[in-house]
Amino acid sequence: MALPSLADTTALIRHRRSIKPTDMDTTREVDRSLLLEILENATWAPNHGLTEPWRFHLYQGDSRQQLASQMQASYRETTPSAEFREDKFIKMGENPLLAPVVIACVMERNGGDKIPEIEEIEACASALQNLQLSATAAGLGGYWSSPPMLDTECFRAWLGLRAEDRCVGLIYLGWPKPEFKWPRSIRKPVESKLVWH
Ligand SMILES: Cc1cc2nc3c(=O)[nH]c(=O)nc-3n(C[C@H](O)[C@H](O)[C@H](O)COP(=O)(O)O)c2cc1C
Repeated sequence: MALPSLADTTALIRHRRSIKPTDMDTTREVDRSLLLEILENATWAPNHGLTEPWRFHLYQGDSRQQLASQMQASYRETTPSAEFREDKFIKMGENPLLAPVVIACVMERNGGDKIPEIEEIEACASALQNLQLSATAAGLGGYWSSPPMLDTECFRAWLGLRAEDRCVGLIYLGWPKPEFKWPRSIRKPVESKLVWH
């Protein structure tokens, strides 16, 4: 098997962008076989002790409405009225319906005390980067969202989390709208982040 060149890998990594659900084509589904390939790639992420702590809750079709309603209910229930933002509330109700696939990624802690919690979260983050790069290679847009609402007791209970588990993010996936212009981004020069010893 020929490996992708470093140049191709560099191009893929630098091409990945956060693409918001408002820029996704609501009329175009993501094939199950493609979704499974992307999710399987996610599971090839490094993970300490091969605990494979990731669990993916998939919302498509009508189940997205249940997710949206639960996000709104959890936000309303746990946000003090002085901090409540109507625009955020509306977005929570709309976003899941704009993307054909929403994935709630859960860190499920099964390694006991041997593996620190942060390492299980790091493994999940690595899996989500695999997922996002695979989506990018397929031409899909993806967006990682982490509203504080994910950590509320009501949302956690709805997902069926145990005390030691954690929802590390929602990934919205979908085909960009036909007229969408792929965004550019910037990073500081790596030299500014280096400490040579
Ligand atoms: C752990 C994590 C959580 C994130 N949560 C949010 C979020 O809640 N809202 C948001 O707009 N972007 C979120 N992002 C995406 C970042 O905003 C985005 O990656 C950053 O702006 C750089 O843009 P790029 O992904 O296009 O390179 C998150 C990214 C990570 C890694």
